[in-house]
Amino acid sequence: MPLDFLVHNIMQSFPDLALRNRIVWTYGHGLHCSDRLSGRHEMILWYTKSDNYVFNLDEIRVPQKYPGKRHYKGPLKGEISGNPLGKNPSDVWDIPNVKANHVEKTIHPCQFPVALALQLVRAFTNSGHLVLDPFMGSGTTGVAALLEGRRFVGAEILKKYYKVAEKRCVEAIEGKVKYRSPEVAIYVPDPNTAVAKMPAQFRFTVVNKTVERETKCQEKRRSMHRA
Ligand SMILES: C[S@@+](CC[C@H](N)C(=O)[O-])C[C@H]1O[C@@H](n2cnc3c(N)ncnc32)[C@H](O)[C@@H]1O
Repeated sequence: MPLDFLVHNIMQSFPDLALRNRIVWTYGHGLHCSDRLSGRHEMILWYTKSDNYVFNLDEIRVPQKYPGKRHYKGPLKGEISGNPLGKNPSDVWDIPNVKANHVEKTIHPCQFPVALALQLVRAFTNSGHLVLDPFMGSGTTGVAALLEGRRFVGAEILKKYYKVAEKRCVEAIEGKVKYRSPEVAIYVPDPNTAVAKMPAQFRFTVVNKTVERETKCQEKRRSMHRA
């Protein structure tokens, strides 16, 4: 059962709540499945209680693909058409997840990245607002809220994670918390490094597979032709 279906069903019993966006958080790493597609996303549901809500789009804009694009007709013809602050980041956010060597890694097994929580806090709350995370785990939401000058309330049922969350929140207040900023570009491997190069054995396997597929395809075409 997709969790966001369950949550949405519950939220529908509150008529004042309106779903504004279903945001997909996508990330490049995780378990490689062999009997289904490997999972590389989580869902975020953004609801508001009325039409009077906070949405700080300028706080989360991302660079345009073609920032130099100009209006090609009309009264603004020739002028730059994009917003100098960047474009709307869309409802798909590509943010690295917290793996073993991530700067934010704690003992929590399913820790979210601070960059994800920062986007939400920046976009949907203002300075001084109160942010609540009732399942705070290692306190990622708290870290993001406190870094951005918001207040934070959290709950965590397991003491070992509560202690981690408390420590990280204090570090955030003191300006000592370690985190990967959302402004840091996603790492692209240098194609000249040994690990990024296709090993000779792989090339052999791929070539064999291709040959086999071509042969089967040719056979099929031949039998169709005969028929
Ligand atoms: C998905 S994790 C949250 C991870 C968190 N976002 C982070 O970045 O570390 C959910 C957390 O909720 C806690 N939890 C589960 N049931 C709870 C409850 N009834 N009250 C408080 N916390 C609970 C779990 O122990 C777990 O740490």
